[in-house]
Amino acid sequence: MSKVKTIYQCQACGFASPKWLGKCPDCNAWNSFTEERESPKTLKAKPSFGGNTSPLPLSAVAGATEKRALVGISEFDRVLGGGMVSGAIVLIGGDPGIGKSTLLLQAVGKIAEKAETVLYVSGEESPEQIKLRAERLQINSDFIVLLPETVIENILAYAAEMKPSVLVIDSIQTVYTEELTSAPGSVGQIRESAAKLMYYAKKAHVPVFLIGHVTKEGAIAGPRVLEHIVDTVLYFEGDRGHPYRILRTVKNRFGSTNEIGVFEMSDSGLIEILNPSLLFLSERPENAAGSAVIAGIEGTRPLLVEIQALVSPTSFGMPRRTSMGIDFNRVNLLVAVLEKKAGVNLGGMDIFLNVVGGLKIAEPALDLGVIAALVSSFREVPVNPGVLFFGEVGLSGEVRAVAQGEARLKEAAKIGFTTAIIPKGNADRLKDTCGLTVMGVRNVEEALEYISR
Ligand code: TYD
Ligand code: MG
Repeated sequence: MSKVKTIYQCQACGFASPKWLGKCPDCNAWNSFTEERESPKTLKAKPSFGGNTSPLPLSAVAGATEKRALVGISEFDRVLGGGMVSGAIVLIGGDPGIGKSTLLLQAVGKIAEKAETVLYVSGEESPEQIKLRAERLQINSDFIVLLPETVIENILAYAAEMKPSVLVIDSIQTVYTEELTSAPGSVGQIRESAAKLMYYAKKAHVPVFLIGHVTKEGAIAGPRVLEHIVDTVLYFEGDRGHPYRILRTVKNRFGSTNEIGVFEMSDSGLIEILNPSLLFLSERPENAAGSAVIAGIEGTRPLLVEIQALVSPTSFGMPRRTSMGIDFNRVNLLVAVLEKKAGVNLGGMDIFLNVVGGLKIAEPALDLGVIAALVSSFREVPVNPGVLFFGEVGLSGEVRAVAQGEARLKEAAKIGFTTAIIPKGNADRLKDTCGLTVMGVRNVEEALEYISR
């Protein structure tokens, strides 16, 4: 007699338990357990690449050359590591309403222009709703086939018959397999559906794009399990208040991670921003204290961004410290270094820091820019607008070299910067200053000498 076993699974990390738990012992999420009925029929486990399972010597494995095809949107292709790889599954995560469906419909439109067929499966929107969006984006093609379906077996049966060049699933949370009795969107369903799609992708050599929603906490809803299964994970992020959207690689079996593509959401879809540095600096105030420009590296791409600081005497007992786009602890550390090592007394000051354009930067190379913006605002002295900063600051006030100094300078020269204040370690190793006057500094005090001038 077959029995349906009930288990409880954490929706955040996939931890399974025989009874319901209020707090997940694995990832500490609260109230994240839902009931999952395991099917009495054991699902046949297959390797996700779907091939031969007998052992063989490494030297006997035929070298695989990954077959790539360009989407035709260069920012998208860059993030994928140079185009779509046949048989690869790409997960695109992001908040609802950020523009995931728009991005993929535009990508699909480009692919269809090359007379390649695309199967666009939508469990979220009706074909009429997709048509409305397509009209807005001026996309119309016989090569795009819309399929309003949520049962994974039916989707795969249709795909097997139609043999599309690309398959899009919008979204993975809406599809489910009839082999499991749990609700669509639950961990078991998502994992099982993704595994089936993976098997299909590898067997049919078709690139598959999955759209996934992100929870409030920032994880792709349901499953971190999903991130393990797929080949590439991209996040589409941005501030609702800003038109800029950043497509970021979080995982890529076929390319570098931390690559970004920058877009702007307009009335007629997403527009690629080929020179983001120019965009992020375009509204820079002239001769205002508290603004400094740093050269960061996002993936393989240098990016110039403005950092703004506002330092003013506190009107309450406790000074307020707020930072947007930069790690708060990093800011506190830099403030402490300024006080102790450079004698800049920020003790009784409210401090607000912001990275312009809604960007988030986690690179230590921005330290010197944060210091410059803070001191500039504190002293009410604007930083010369032609000056650029980068460098990591250590706890003894030393300025440490960072990677890819020349790439950063080259980008700055392109935008028209004339002077760079950078770590001495970088300055000494430069082969080419890219036409900039380069000042190598060893510590924060030396850097500050240039700021007050
Ligand atoms: P959508 O792609 O539906 O988001 P997601 O699939 O991530 O939930 O995009 C939703 C938002 O984008 C919506 O609020 C309207 C806006 N939008 C534009 O501003 N311009 C456009 O051309 C389109 C198609 C959408
Ligand atoms: Mg959508």
